[in-house]
Amino acid sequence: MRILFLNGPNLNLLGQREPEVYGSTTLEDIESRVRSRAQAKGAEVDFRQSNSEAELVGWIQQAKGNCDVIVLNAAAYTHTSIALRDAISGIGVPTIEIHLSNIHAREEFRRHSMIAPVCCGIIVGFGADSYTLAVDAAINVKASISAKTGAFSPATKGSILK
Ligand code: DQA
Repeated sequence: MRILFLNGPNLNLLGQREPEVYGSTTLEDIESRVRSRAQAKGAEVDFRQSNSEAELVGWIQQAKGNCDVIVLNAAAYTHTSIALRDAISGIGVPTIEIHLSNIHAREEFRRHSMIAPVCCGIIVGFGADSYTLAVDAAINVKASISAKTGAFSPATKGSILK
């Protein structure tokens, strides 16, 4: 079981960036929490951050055949990127959208996600815990897919755990 965590723009600044919104935990701290949680559950983790939309698209494309589930905090690209959405729907690797903050309780422009419709689930608003919750969710998604069909079909998105 291999989980690819992808982090979008400005998440490298966590810890110093708007701590009243995003908390004081750094991305390195979050990565180490994710690794501990995954190790306890017997899962492998690849954890990356980029400020570049193109690099994120490239990593999503490479995920096919290399990981079981993607966990994506696309940061600001969540609200704008058709390219990330198309990459996710193009490769068919189940993807979980996550956010530290509750994007639905913030500015209007953050309430719309371009990528949510092609993700199998969303975890928002739990701060750094959104990441560790996503480890558990990813493991459950993988188990659910293996039990049902052995393969992810975009047609099952939205009802993967039912
Ligand atoms: C974020 C929410 C986004 O709206 C914002 O652009 C971010 C971080 C979050 O994790 O809460 O950079 O993805």
